[in-house]
Amino acid sequence: MKPAKVERMMDGKERDYVQHLFGKHISMGQVRYLRCAHLDVYERDRKGACFVDAVTGKRFFDCFSSAGCFNVGRGNERVKAALEDALARHDMGSHLLLSEHKVRFAERLASLCPGDLDKVVLCASGADACAGAIKLAKGATGRNDVITMNKAYHGHEGFSLSANGKDYYKELFLPLMPGFHVVEFNDLDAVRRVASENTAAVVLEPVQGEGGIHVATKEYMTGLRKLCDELGVMLIFDEVQTGFGRTGTMWAMEHYDVIPDIMFTAKSISGGLYPNGAVVYRAIEPLVSYVEKNPLFHDSHGGGSDLGCIVSQAVLDDIVENRLWENAAAMGARLKEGIQEIASKNRDCVKEVRGLGLMIGIEYVHEFIGALMAECLARQGVWAVYSGNAPQVMRFQVPITIGGHEVDDLLDRIRAAFDAMRWYLVLLMPLARIPFVGALLNNVHLQIWAFNLVRDLEEFVGKIMNRRGGA
Ligand SMILES: Cc1ncc(COP(=O)(O)O)c(C=O)c1O
Repeated sequence: MKPAKVERMMDGKERDYVQHLFGKHISMGQVRYLRCAHLDVYERDRKGACFVDAVTGKRFFDCFSSAGCFNVGRGNERVKAALEDALARHDMGSHLLLSEHKVRFAERLASLCPGDLDKVVLCASGADACAGAIKLAKGATGRNDVITMNKAYHGHEGFSLSANGKDYYKELFLPLMPGFHVVEFNDLDAVRRVASENTAAVVLEPVQGEGGIHVATKEYMTGLRKLCDELGVMLIFDEVQTGFGRTGTMWAMEHYDVIPDIMFTAKSISGGLYPNGAVVYRAIEPLVSYVEKNPLFHDSHGGGSDLGCIVSQAVLDDIVENRLWENAAAMGARLKEGIQEIASKNRDCVKEVRGLGLMIGIEYVHEFIGALMAECLARQGVWAVYSGNAPQVMRFQVPITIGGHEVDDLLDRIRAAFDAMRWYLVLLMPLARIPFVGALLNNVHLQIWAFNLVRDLEEFVGKIMNRRGGA
């Protein structure tokens, strides 16, 4: 393999220019959002659980992992080599033709799924796989309704957008797909009340990621399986974030001994190096006949490309040979214990610490603390964001290759971020008790404006000090 090109550092002027261009051509809102939390960083060397900021050279722990893309570690060498080798010989391949790469990947993926989850539909992304799963359930059952969960996140388009459990994403685009019903997560009676002879599927994440790291209970999952069997409804699990070892087992469903009729996955399926996704469904009727009669019911040129399938095989080899789910379980326990210890000293602002494996969330008592903590963590070299559908919950989803010393280093940084946050909280916690002021503090637009103002002031003072120092 050729030695990797080292990406160059950037100076402050180049950073400002990239920000200017990003704002001009992509989104100034995004620049301001990141800048206010000191997260206007540029990923340079990406290795294992960390990356280095191209401007400051500072090392960051990647606790976001692009919402679960980097389970096998940033820039995994084995997966990179597989992609380079594939690129030397192939392109994406024609999506209509048979291909040994597609079939090898599908066979390997199915062999790692429990029970009779044996059949695969190749997809291009998580949202695409979500659409494939819902279409399969609707097409095979001939029913129209879909039950999804409050705060759920399944993607930003079509079926997946309709399946989301947060109005904010949906209200601008109404009407969406008909027949979607949102119910409370972990509430079996709520599903029972809505389910009917027209229900095609119940869709859920075993652990809600964007929803704020809510873990499904065993009784709920067992109850759902029984209810779906009784009503002929397809039970669908979204393992986009929870799959590939993240929660301490290969699939989160293994914690429950419950096998869905259909599951879909993406993200870490290809280690963050090439887009790929998949629906895996049980070899049962009416699913099998439906697909046999309609082999192109879900299709795209990028879904299950040869490149994606080759990369995904290397990812699966890496996970299985290194038994990475065991590391996620062990490191997850170590990290959670450390975070719980920190939380016990910050009871006034932390409501709960929860999670499975290396999918851990800290729920704060106010939404604004999520944004404040992101800023304090960034200063300590930790890239973490709050859950998209629950701003009061900070997520920790570091690559599952992380080692014990790194977990301890990360904990030191989280501890230091809490210590720094306490200074702000002395003022903000009493203010947050006043209802009107509390609402203002939780307003995202106001947060962005205020943090950017602080950042501008900091930079202004920094410039003056530099000038004085130079004079
Ligand atoms: C649980 C879950 N499902 C689906 C998706 C959509 O995946 P993608 O971004 O690949 O479309 C995401 C993305 O964050 C996700 O977290």
